[in-house]
Amino acid sequence: MKSEQIKSIAKEIENVERQMDWGGMTIAYGLKKFTYGSSSFLDTIYNNISLNENDTFYDLGCGYGLVLWYGAQRFPNTQFKGIEIVRERCEFAEELAKRDNLKNINIFQGDLLQQDISDGNIFYIYNSLYSDLYTELVKKLKAIASQKVITIIAESSSKFFDKESWLIEQCEFELSPISSLKIYKSK
Ligand SMILES: C[S@@+](CC[C@H](N)C(=O)[O-])C[C@H]1O[C@@H](n2cnc3c(N)ncnc32)[C@H](O)[C@@H]1O
Repeated sequence: MKSEQIKSIAKEIENVERQMDWGGMTIAYGLKKFTYGSSSFLDTIYNNISLNENDTFYDLGCGYGLVLWYGAQRFPNTQFKGIEIVRERCEFAEELAKRDNLKNINIFQGDLLQQDISDGNIFYIYNSLYSDLYTELVKKLKAIASQKVITIIAESSSKFFDKESWLIEQCEFELSPISSLKIYKSK
């Protein structure tokens, strides 16, 4: 049932993406990595972390909010927050949460490097930034980790977290011959 629902949501997303004004995005938001791709490995993410009422999960660059929508249903006591720079994607993510009456989802439009995310303790990032900006994100997450233990779940961007001595790699899942999903915990 869920996979049928996801397929139907994916079709709706395709329609919004088709109408996207790519040139206009750069004018509106500056030079960012606007490429959209949805995480299709939702169970790999959520089968490998435990979430409860004290946790706040962030999707940094949440696109259309599918990762949040899935998690919020599976873990109704956890707060799910998404940051997304593109307005149309935010609006869709908000609508998706409303449709299923998911009160534990909040979407914020803005630049993930500028937003205050210090209330979070689990951070998911899927290919949202150009390489040179990961240093800034790592710095931001490290500051949060100086106050509490955090978990980082990363695909593609893993290499930026690998060399950080304040993080311990918990596990790795091969997603394709060229990409994997890694979960790190701060010390
Ligand atoms: C590859 S998509 C991933 C979407 C979602 N996290 C998922 O896994 O299904 C990356 C998203 O990050 C957004 N993005 C890129 N740079 C951003 C920034 N600086 N702040 C917020 N969102 C950003 C893009 O617009 C895009 O929707």
